[in-house]
Amino acid sequence: MCGIVGYIGKKQAYPILIKGLKRLEYRGYDSAGVAMIGECGELNVYKTKGKVDNLTEYCNDKDVSGCVGIAHTRWATHGEPSARNAHPHYSRSRNLAIIHNGIIENYADIKVRLQAEGVEFRSDTDTEVLVQLVEYIMEKKNLPLLEAVQVALHQVIGAYAIAILDRREPRQIVAARKQSPLVVGIGEDEFFLGSDASPIVEYTDRVVYLEDGNIALIRLDEELRVITILGEEQELKVKTVDIDLGQIEKGGYEHFMLKEIFEQPECLMNCMRGRINVEGNHVTLSAMIDHRQRLLGAKRIVMVACGTSWHAGLVGKQLFESLCGIPCEVEYASEFRYRNPVVTKDDVVIAISQSGETADTLAAVQLAKERGAFIYGVCNAIGSSIPRATDTGTYIHVGPEIGVASTKAFTGQVAVLSMLALCLAKERGSVSDEQYGEMVKELTLMPRKMELALKTNEQIRHLAPIFTYAKNCLYLGRGYNFPVALEGALKLKEISYIHAEGYPAAEMKHGPIALIDSEMPVFVIATHDHLYEKVISNIQEVRARGGRVTALVTEGDTRIQKYADHVVTLPDTLECFQPLLASIPLQLLAYHIAVCKGKDVDRPRNLAKSVTVE
Ligand code: M6R
Repeated sequence: MCGIVGYIGKKQAYPILIKGLKRLEYRGYDSAGVAMIGECGELNVYKTKGKVDNLTEYCNDKDVSGCVGIAHTRWATHGEPSARNAHPHYSRSRNLAIIHNGIIENYADIKVRLQAEGVEFRSDTDTEVLVQLVEYIMEKKNLPLLEAVQVALHQVIGAYAIAILDRREPRQIVAARKQSPLVVGIGEDEFFLGSDASPIVEYTDRVVYLEDGNIALIRLDEELRVITILGEEQELKVKTVDIDLGQIEKGGYEHFMLKEIFEQPECLMNCMRGRINVEGNHVTLSAMIDHRQRLLGAKRIVMVACGTSWHAGLVGKQLFESLCGIPCEVEYASEFRYRNPVVTKDDVVIAISQSGETADTLAAVQLAKERGAFIYGVCNAIGSSIPRATDTGTYIHVGPEIGVASTKAFTGQVAVLSMLALCLAKERGSVSDEQYGEMVKELTLMPRKMELALKTNEQIRHLAPIFTYAKNCLYLGRGYNFPVALEGALKLKEISYIHAEGYPAAEMKHGPIALIDSEMPVFVIATHDHLYEKVISNIQEVRARGGRVTALVTEGDTRIQKYADHVVTLPDTLECFQPLLASIPLQLLAYHIAVCKGKDVDRPRNLAKSVTVE
């Protein structure tokens, strides 16, 4: 939700800021803006509605000189998407400019107070309130920017990552964070700021992840300082990031989403590397070694997540229950955090999140922690907020996921949950050695099988135009394939804007069957498993009502083609690993339908990659 970039150094800031914004555009793209302190000391702010390309076009004939600047790409919360509401926002005197990611919840109260003091506002945003408050404090109390920011942040309720420029201090950026991510990159005589490391890694691998309540004082030719809002100096924790630039570029693919779909075999290998031994018969997770007793003692597992990560949790639930015999619940983090859930110290709470920054999942973690549960993170973004808030965890290691529609993170999450379930089952003795060995072996074969599943791409590309005109689609699956149906429907909704629902195939007759006609495509995941015969009956129920069926089947299947209009064939695998394969053609289907419809696949409307507001 909103991307923040900053630069201070000896180079021209503008090209660095624009490149950074493009890397962060996945976080929001309804408007964009940039502020630079020019060579003559003026503070120039340029902003436009729409994507970063609109901004660069607008800036073509503007003075974009200067070696210090901040930039922002927005996902609107308060105030419609428009140039007026785009960031950066000036203060009243135009001496300050701010960019912000998050929500200032008590902005209305502060605004009324400032208006009573004669401050006039130029936008409808909560963000402008913050910069006006900072300036008001600077003037009233005669404080420098850093101290005024400290005072202002004491008055603010909400979440923020901010960066502020002061025209009168052209060698400085002040940045702060609470519940919204912010990273400072340390280069040679230069510093960078980013909502994540992707705009920074091209220039330096040395970064500091700001903690909640931290303010960074970034001054040219001085050491970076990190201070709390209470004024306590913090020790610098410089980390090395290991992101290959190629990982965050399109690498010849037309869209990030397609690139990420095709990366899945390699991602899975990276995810399993060092965890499954070379003989392919044993899984080790360091979390399991470090916290063996605590994990084995779990009386219950509760998974909290949102969106695609929640779907991965539904697969995990079946694994933990069937392999380990541990009762398991999967909760929408946004519901969990506002209920009064029964969570005890005997529970293990698994937080699943690609970004590691989802506000609801983070809040659910904090709630579970307060109630004494042991918290396990399954995340992708290294060093992000959720892994830092958990007791232990396992990174999925699928590399940066830029496409807003999550693909490789889903299979990475399912793979990690599978490995965790196998470790627990082995230690608890709830699987036989033979079953354990067979499952570990099968996991190691999965990257190759994923490559075969990707071979469906051409067939699906040709099928996609048939579905372009659908208004509604139904996805059906049972058992391990029910979460796959949900995930397939979510992908289609997100990027093609076709309404789609995922349903357990047998539940269809309790309602959705009324919708079936020849106009509504029905996608059925009908791979070989213990529910295969039942799914065939469900397909017949659809057919009997004139429904048009496209079925995902296991290689060698000869029965379903009699009932389905189209059949897409997948490699055989164990039932519990079917989501790793069956999700792939559904990702491709959503992708190609969206492309056929001319949609902006990587930047679907109204969405943002990382939902850092509740
Ligand atoms: O970063 P997270 O995994 O916590 O994100 C959760 C959801 O916002 C995310 O999965 C979302 O549903 C995706 N756009 C789905 O493709």
